[in-house]
Amino acid sequence: MIIKQPWWKEVVVYQIYVRSFKDTDQDGIGDLPGILGSIPYLKQLGVDAIYLNPINKSPNDDFGYDISDFYGIMDEFGTLADFDELIRTLHDHGIRFIMDLVINHSSDEHPWFKEARTSRDNPFHDFYIWRDGKAGGPPNNWPSFFGGSAWAYNEATDEYYLHLFSRKQPDFNFTNDQLIDHIKNILRFWIDRGVDGFRFDAINHIAKDLEFPDGPMKPGDRYGDFIPFVQNLPKVHDYIRELRRDAITLPDFFVAGEAGGIGFENAHLYTAQDSNELDVLFHFDMHSIGRGPQDWLRIPVDLRKTIKRSFTGWATRPDTEGWNPVFYSNHDTTRTVSRIGDDAHYREASAKALALLQLTQRGTPFIYYGDEIGMTNAWDFKLTDYRDIAVFQKYEEQVVNGIVSPGDYLTGLHYLNRDNARTPMQWNSQPGAGFSTATPWIPLNQNYQTINVEAELQTPDSIFHFYQTMIHLRRVHPVLIHGSLTEYLPHHEQIYVYTRQGEVESTEYLILLNLTSKPAQAELPIDLTNRLDPPVVALMLSNYPNRPPLESVISLLPWEARLYAIKSLKEEDPSSTV
Ligand code: GLC
Repeated sequence: MIIKQPWWKEVVVYQIYVRSFKDTDQDGIGDLPGILGSIPYLKQLGVDAIYLNPINKSPNDDFGYDISDFYGIMDEFGTLADFDELIRTLHDHGIRFIMDLVINHSSDEHPWFKEARTSRDNPFHDFYIWRDGKAGGPPNNWPSFFGGSAWAYNEATDEYYLHLFSRKQPDFNFTNDQLIDHIKNILRFWIDRGVDGFRFDAINHIAKDLEFPDGPMKPGDRYGDFIPFVQNLPKVHDYIRELRRDAITLPDFFVAGEAGGIGFENAHLYTAQDSNELDVLFHFDMHSIGRGPQDWLRIPVDLRKTIKRSFTGWATRPDTEGWNPVFYSNHDTTRTVSRIGDDAHYREASAKALALLQLTQRGTPFIYYGDEIGMTNAWDFKLTDYRDIAVFQKYEEQVVNGIVSPGDYLTGLHYLNRDNARTPMQWNSQPGAGFSTATPWIPLNQNYQTINVEAELQTPDSIFHFYQTMIHLRRVHPVLIHGSLTEYLPHHEQIYVYTRQGEVESTEYLILLNLTSKPAQAELPIDLTNRLDPPVVALMLSNYPNRPPLESVISLLPWEARLYAIKSLKEEDPSSTV
């Protein structure tokens, strides 16, 4: 029996950081018409959904994650009319639209907060979280994620307000029913305008421990550990369920949520089939690769542990626990090929290997813009090239206070800062890289002269074409989407091997990947005796030319990736014969 699956399980999603994608009015900032004009490119790549980072009005302290009008479009991005035209045209081309909604907090320039801060009995006061100071300082020892205290003083009311992110991002108080009603209206507004799905930003923070206890501190710490009091509290689930129940009534609507501190072991808390909360959850497994406990500290990447464990862990969850997003990067990470691949020695091979891995996993792939052409970290950025608010807040805290040297801090930024993944899309080798003729809001990565869309499109075996082929193969072989995943050699230090198999199909798929920059060998872990004779084993795709036939010992070149179709040894199911 064929069960019709929801669309969001079968699409390949392309994430666009709008600010950096394509500028049409030449102000140095990407815009919605830029995306409209890029639809042919998206079609050529073969994606069937896009997810845009926030497009609502914002003073851009955190580039759209600080919203000052939930019903408006950010001035630099265009107008509501541009939005309507974009969504209509996307739909005409069979492309779905997923919108980022930031409802854990607003901008301090939102009219609600401007009101709220004027007096303790203003009707909007309770939309936010306020506490009296303690001993001439903030109410407790919680830090903000971006550095400094999580509390900011408000003179007019002689109180502090909570901001888990920057001081221009005051947190909402979800215990206020009127606020929740407003949020439901915001969701309805965008659903009525045609969006197909939401990504709820920082959603696991919407409930806080209302006792606001100090967090435990280790010697030398300036702030306490606030995570247990602000992340994944039980109430979060009630709030999400309520929003979904009351505001999201379309049966096929898609909801993704960002939730740090959750892994495949406990993601079912949010994504279980009957939970009516999130359809997929964005975890931080990939984000954390190479990231030490401090922002300037890089740690060696253990691909075996992180990639293999994480991908297999997510892919082998029972369906009842929920569906998975398959991604490496987003606007909060560094570039995939720099963080996980090897952009210095094997940029092309590693970018393709990672594409093959991503697109043969079980779940919905989210490709971050630029990864399909192998864009890299901005290794030559100077401190003044960065735009991320966290860079400057943490500079104060860490460099000015003498905890880290300016040189080490900058090296840390080169490896770990999220601005690496926010540089303008590299369309061609002209000045401005085809992104804009104006000075871009953040500098271009200088390698645009060699790494760009135009060059990729002209090169038959480019990274772009590899993605394109893989996306196509995934579409025409649905076992690659829905089939179960079996991993072999889980302890191998370099090689990731798995098969994908459906319930009744006579073909399964074998994936061999060397996730390192050194040649690798292993005994082929599955018995192919009955399948080795062509055409029962067929190499469908590889990132190196002229590969030798599959034998009982696999030898893989650095970052080599191969996808085979193999005959399933499953007993033929008599009921499946026509
Ligand atoms: C999420 C976003 C990040 C933003 C933060 C505050 O983590 O992905 O970009 O800075 O929330 O909204």
